[in-house]
Parts: sequence; C-alpha cells; structure tokens
Amino acid sequence: MNPTPSTPQVITHVAELQRRVHAARQVGRVVGLVPTMGALHEGHLSLIDASTAECGLTVVTIFVNPTQFGPNEDFAAYPRDLQHDLSLLAGRGEVLVFAPDTATVYGARHATSIEVVGPALPLEGEFRPGHFRGVATVVLKLFLLVRPDRAYFGRKDYQQTLVVRRMTDDLHLPIHIEVCPTVREPDGLAMSSRNVYLSPEERQRALAISQSLLMAKHLIAGGTLDAATVTARMRERLTAADLKIDYVALADPDTLEGVATLDRPTVALIAARVGQTRLIDNERIV
Ligand code: PAF
Repeated sequence: MNPTPSTPQVITHVAELQRRVHAARQVGRVVGLVPTMGALHEGHLSLIDASTAECGLTVVTIFVNPTQFGPNEDFAAYPRDLQHDLSLLAGRGEVLVFAPDTATVYGARHATSIEVVGPALPLEGEFRPGHFRGVATVVLKLFLLVRPDRAYFGRKDYQQTLVVRRMTDDLHLPIHIEVCPTVREPDGLAMSSRNVYLSPEERQRALAISQSLLMAKHLIAGGTLDAATVTARMRERLTAADLKIDYVALADPDTLEGVATLDRPTVALIAARVGQTRLIDNERIV
C-alpha cells in the first residue's frame, strides 16, 4: 500500500519562513515562489509543478490580499479553504506554504505602496482603480520576504504579468519571472478561483469568453485583419450570451496599446461579467 503523501508544512511567521529559505540556500537549493490567494486549482498547480521542476524549494504563498480589491469587490466572499488547498499540494515535491495573516503583511502603521504606471494604466487599470497598486505592493512584499530566485505567474492574468515584470525590471530585483500558460477546462473555460461563483447556467454562458478568443483567431486566419471588425464580432458573441462587457481589447503584447491592423503581434484581452462574477481571459491571436 502506498503511504498517503504528506501535506506541506504551513508557516505563518516571517522568521520561520526566512529560516527555512536560508537553510535551503545554504545547501545550494534554488528557491521558487508561487504567489497565490488560495482557492487553488489546476492553473496554480501547473505553476507549482513548474517551480518544483526547476527549484529545490518552492514557497507557495496563500494570502488573500485586501489591498488589491476595490470597495465593491469580492474580498469578503473570496473563496478560502486552506485545508483543501493543502490537500491539493500533498506529494507535490519540496513545497512550503507561507500563509500569513493580514497584520503580518500589513502592519498597523503600514503606509507604503508601489505604483506602477505604463502597463498598469489601461484595461484593468481603468476598470479596477488601485488594483495593480495592491498587486504590486503585495508582490514586492512577498519578493522581499521570501527572496526567491524565480517567481511563477499565470498568463491568464496577462496584464498582471506585465506589471510584475515592469516592477521587477525597474527595481532591479534579482528574480527571474516565469510566465506559465493558461490552464483551461476541456470546454475552454480558463481556470479561475472565481469560477466557483458560477451557477451551471452561468458557467455555460461563460464559455462565450474563450469562444470569442478562438473566433478572433479564426477570423484572422481567414484574412480579416481589421481590428475593429474582429472586436465587433467578439463583442457580438459575448453579448449574445448575455455577458456584460468591461472591455474587449486587441493590443500590443508588450505595451497593451491598441492595435488597428492585425498584421503584427497582438494579444486579445477580455473582461466581462457573467451575472455577478467578473471573469478575465486572453490569448495571443497574432
Ligand atoms: O494572481 C493572484 O492570485 C494575485 O494577484 C497575487 C499575484 C497572488 C497577488 O496577491
């Protein structure tokens, strides 16, 4: 009989985290960081597997970061189930979980934030003011607490990866940022912790998001290179499924500036609401 794989150790105190990371470094291990807000799914697990394949120690942080949620967003409702998360991590290699409380990350007199402009300004930056300030601030804190050699992020949060890379380069942080492919359900829905909010009927309608990304690729392959035409068709598809669109953007993959003619590298990005649930997705379409 196989022994049950043990769940990873959970650390809540910074001193213990740093002792463990230091011990790993002393024996020459590369340290990987996978920052998460918990509610782990296959997308997170793919990041963790990428890290454990490349690093002798992987620190998975589980922290629902209050500063990246707007006042009317789902911070309170965000799914939290540490025991379930730990069960998913069982047997996944040299993994340590750092799950601090809010007071550990943001002391009572906390007064410092990181403001990235450039790639943080459009799209999510317009629809979720302050979101990337919260993300950049907590990611920098986690980088400084863990001091990893490598950090792993999912392409599903495309704009976030640009913001994290910009901050890492601008602040000369000696951390390699690795961006891993979006993991999708067999029917195309991008894995997201927020998918648990969807009723079966909403989940079905949510497929319009990945389908409209696919449609954009087909249109381009068929010779439609006018971005306005492709965007209009994508919007029609989303609206037909009764999704409320925040944005459909065809943009330069590095700067997120809008692209008019689809004869150059382009990423398509969507944010839309299915009922109360806001989902984002993206694909390179050229
Ligand atoms: O992508 C996320 O889950 C969060 O934005 C992150 C990077 C863990 C920061 O809280």
